[in-house]
Amino acid sequence: MANSVFISNVLPAQARQLIPSDVKVEYNDTDQPLAKAELVKRLQGKNGLICHIISTIDDEVLGSAPGLKVVSNVAVGYNNIDVAAARQRGIVVTNTPDVLTETTADFAFTLLMAAARRVVEADRYARSGQWKAWKWDLLWGADIYGKTLGVVGFGRIGRAVARRGLGFGMRVLYYDTVRADAAAERELNARAVDMDTLLRESDFVTLHTLLSPETRHLINERTLRTMKKTAILVNAARGPVVDEAALVRALSEKWIAGAGLDVFEEEPKIHSGLLSLDNVTLAPHIASASGETRVAMATLAVRNCLAVLDGKPALTPVS
Ligand code: GLV
Repeated sequence: MANSVFISNVLPAQARQLIPSDVKVEYNDTDQPLAKAELVKRLQGKNGLICHIISTIDDEVLGSAPGLKVVSNVAVGYNNIDVAAARQRGIVVTNTPDVLTETTADFAFTLLMAAARRVVEADRYARSGQWKAWKWDLLWGADIYGKTLGVVGFGRIGRAVARRGLGFGMRVLYYDTVRADAAAERELNARAVDMDTLLRESDFVTLHTLLSPETRHLINERTLRTMKKTAILVNAARGPVVDEAALVRALSEKWIAGAGLDVFEEEPKIHSGLLSLDNVTLAPHIASASGETRVAMATLAVRNCLAVLDGKPALTPVS
């Protein structure tokens, strides 16, 4: 019987065109998340699912499609999928690492710089008509060059951010449950430290962990109070790694100086306390959103799906 794939949300034509004509494709060309009942309905009879992080693929969804062989996520993070349940059902889960590493690191560094140098506030001020004369003490920010960068999660993206830090003459500290090999530490001039040392010593703390029960609210009242008062927090990983209510207090009461956030606890909702603060730069989960990278992610997701349907190993399975 012919293979059949459900693409649950919008995907670039360049990627969809890779699917051979003998594979039946059902395509939902919107970027709205499908309700669970609709997702289940449209998954009937499919062997492959290509989805984004807005689709929650739990055991019930997985169990509703007996022929399903592969769930191909168009993202590096996969906390939207119950990977253990998929494994138990013999369904392969894939993600899109590598292709988005540099683009995501670029954006994490963009947030870091925007927060440190108050770019969004400066833009608002310049447009507002308030700028009447050059002012000595206008919008002072923090230096980036020569400061200490603390990278939490020293995987591909964390290391790519560390590399950017090197270009700015930064001292790099990292915290990870797995120690990097000596060559990587040497290349990035990075020192492994425990989490509290990283928090105490870093001028910038940038988060690059997966979301798991261990990393949920890793940044909380206690850890925020451990950071320097002058520190800036960057999160381009997953929203729930940060306790958003605690961060609002930290930013309002100046336990830390600022933050740059691309991700939020209950996307697309943003904690109302953040919206009124000037010392936080906000973005709507766009760290991997360059044209080139989004097409590369979609292409890899399609290739992963097709490989499994062809009985071959996935290119980038979730381990
Ligand atoms: C985006 O958030 C991703 O995980 O790729």
